[in-house]
Amino acid sequence: MSSDTTRATDSAAFWENHYAGVDPQWGTRPNAVLVEVVTALAPGPGVGGGRALDLGCGHGGDALWLASLGWDVTAVDVSATALDRVAAGAAGAGLADRVHPSRHDLARSFPDGAFDLVTAGYFHTPVEIPREQVLRRAAEAVALGGLLVLVEHASLAPWSWRDGHEDVRFPGPDDVLASLRLGDGWHTERCHAPERTATGPGGETATVTDNVIAVRRGRPA
Ligand SMILES: C[S@@+](CC[C@H](N)C(=O)[O-])C[C@H]1O[C@@H](n2cnc3c(N)ncnc32)[C@H](O)[C@@H]1O
Repeated sequence: MSSDTTRATDSAAFWENHYAGVDPQWGTRPNAVLVEVVTALAPGPGVGGGRALDLGCGHGGDALWLASLGWDVTAVDVSATALDRVAAGAAGAGLADRVHPSRHDLARSFPDGAFDLVTAGYFHTPVEIPREQVLRRAAEAVALGGLLVLVEHASLAPWSWRDGHEDVRFPGPDDVLASLRLGDGWHTERCHAPERTATGPGGETATVTDNVIAVRRGRPA
């Protein structure tokens, strides 16, 4: 993340500025934790394809990986620069017909339709947004039998951006799950906080924790 320590108020402005200074290759590989969860719980889009939605896709590592498996992916971000890079990456990989970059400030608008798989990998932002509301809207977009997968930071590596705060605290996975207010008709497939080894910009490593929440609308697969 950016080392900008001023409190940003506008998502598009903040993230455009961020991506203007980021190596276009950053974030073009899928997130390992998301790969593990999706491979275990939604290994393929099924006969006739399936619709996936990736929220806060950044440079599209997760979106392109899903498309490579056959998913028809709507890749959403607030940054036009990031989405241009997603489109270029999809074209370069021969996946342009299955990756649909779509610009939304998710605090203000959300893609139409129902999706068999909705993912949000590290959808964090220093800009104040109604994040829980966005994630509840993400759950609403899941089709019957479909899966919502959230992978998010539960701790920060020493090199991570902190907005000037040393004591950043994250909710636990149970709190994140509760905040979705799913009600009946959902099956919890994953709700835990596994550790992983993260690698920093200079090649340094640290143990970090992720929140992993995977919920299926309807009965277990
Ligand atoms: C920490 S990055 C994660 C990017 C990517 N999912 C990954 O794992 O590499 C958060 C992403 O969310 C996007 N984002 C932040 N606020 C947003 C908003 N209000 N609407 C849509 N996208 C937003 C940012 O532009 C950024 O690409």
